[in-house]
Amino acid sequence: MTNLPDLKSVKALEENWKKISSTHLRNLLSDSARNEKLKLTFNDILFDYSHEKLDTETVKLLGELAEEIKLKERFDEMFKGEKINNTENRSVLHRALRMDKSQSLIVDKVDVVKQVHEVLDRIKNFSYKVRSGLFLGFTKKRLKNFISIGIGGSYLGVDFLYNAMKSHPDYEKLCHGFNLRFIANVCPIDFHRAVEDLDVEETLVIVVSKTFTTAETMKNGRNVKHWLIEEYKKKNPTLNQSDIDSIIAHHFCAVSTNLEETDKFGINKENVFGFWSWVGGRYSCWSAVGALPLSLYFSFEVFEQFLKGGKAIDDYVEKCTDVTQNIPMMLGLIGFYNAYICNLNSRAILPYSQALCRFPAHIQQLDMESNGKMVNNKTNQFTTYDCGAIIFGEPGTNGQHSFYQLIHQGRKLACEFIGYCMPQVDAFYAGEPISSHAELMCNFFAQPDALAYGRYTDEDLKDVPENLKNHKTFKGDRCSLSILFKQLDAHAIGELLAIYEHRVATEGFIYSINSFDQWGVELGKKLAIGVRDIFSMKDQKEAIEKAKTTMNSATVDMIKFFLDNSK
Ligand code: F6P
Repeated sequence: MTNLPDLKSVKALEENWKKISSTHLRNLLSDSARNEKLKLTFNDILFDYSHEKLDTETVKLLGELAEEIKLKERFDEMFKGEKINNTENRSVLHRALRMDKSQSLIVDKVDVVKQVHEVLDRIKNFSYKVRSGLFLGFTKKRLKNFISIGIGGSYLGVDFLYNAMKSHPDYEKLCHGFNLRFIANVCPIDFHRAVEDLDVEETLVIVVSKTFTTAETMKNGRNVKHWLIEEYKKKNPTLNQSDIDSIIAHHFCAVSTNLEETDKFGINKENVFGFWSWVGGRYSCWSAVGALPLSLYFSFEVFEQFLKGGKAIDDYVEKCTDVTQNIPMMLGLIGFYNAYICNLNSRAILPYSQALCRFPAHIQQLDMESNGKMVNNKTNQFTTYDCGAIIFGEPGTNGQHSFYQLIHQGRKLACEFIGYCMPQVDAFYAGEPISSHAELMCNFFAQPDALAYGRYTDEDLKDVPENLKNHKTFKGDRCSLSILFKQLDAHAIGELLAIYEHRVATEGFIYSINSFDQWGVELGKKLAIGVRDIFSMKDQKEAIEKAKTTMNSATVDMIKFFLDNSK
């Protein structure tokens, strides 16, 4: 297989870039025939990439790149359940999590869709029982507070979805009277804040961990278990072991692939909801990982709408055979183009809705854990090029008053604006010319043009005093793309996330890496075990001596400073 830099289409893209790079985006955007071609629609979604630094020739070449790397075939392999996660010998089947009950997908002689719906049905039933008061706490009180304990893929997606949905007027009614909180960080503040004002008798804890061995989640799980038992003991000091077992059975549930470990933790089998090794952690919010906490909080029906949104995109991605008309694939191709051809290695995710406040953090993990790699998965050799992009972001307009300074006048990077025609809620009081949502969207439309056009000609700056001219110069020519949705409901949220998931896969296929493993997170975890051994020693002097045998003097000195100052 040809190495990426040697592909005909990549060489042609580089040649084409030499021509386009000197053409200011102002000029590219003045061609309305070009602009007209650089947009795609699907359902209620408008994807506009006219503000990217490219022309119709670039689009043609990106299509040829997709042909050369057999992008459609790569997706077909993934969708069929081939073991494309080759370093872990696993299929990559998060698509199966959003398939209809009526469908089937046989992988290794097992119908995975049937498995998915068995778990979903159990969650539907369990969440209904909890929400309606049929499943009660140890003291027969209704369970109203849900604490989801998990980290990384077992947290970020669910937190994003929770925030994205909770202010929708239809869902607000459904979650009224319930609380959903998260404990992710092993930092004790996360634990402290989550439990501080909760009544244990009304609290249901969900331990979410694919492996059920993740150090942070297990520590937090044990902390919450202690907290629960201690709080119960404050109310009734005569509790015996069988009461304690019953408390755990009434107040704990789990989502995991490791049923042996959930059992050891003491969680009742009936309250354990499984998923499978073919669901990557960062894709798992579609599984019980998201289904359980979100169904408890919003109802199963809302979660189902989210699944349907994801499915709509999956089916579209599969059926839309012209890659240049396929929104997620074009998003991926443009992502590659910006990073590899245009040398823009950072990407800002800029949702113009406060409901999407956790979307950038989720995409940061999804993208950076997937494509932050350096090994060609066909040859197992190091790539000769950098992969992935640095992802960050904040909702607009908050970001405008923060890092947009750099986006406009500092280093160049790629921006992705996400907006909604209809708000979940709005504020429009008498005497105001426009509503708050309209005000927000003014910025959504202004920023891409400000980035692209800049303000730098003599005419632009004619009223600016001489000494401030350079300071007030915006050179423009900064690229972005925009995705505009009609509304922000569970279905559209499913569409948005599936679009980004398929874009990440597209980029990974182009880079020829395995987007579905994450070996890069292992080393730090391993070294932390060595530090933990030192911290668990009673004698500090001995601990430092032990540290000296395995660590460099700088780290030993820092540990000594920590131990000296943490008494
Ligand atoms: O450290 C990264 C990671 O392995 C993620 O990929 C994963 O989502 C997260 O940790 C949590 O893992 P688990 O669900 O097994 O607790």
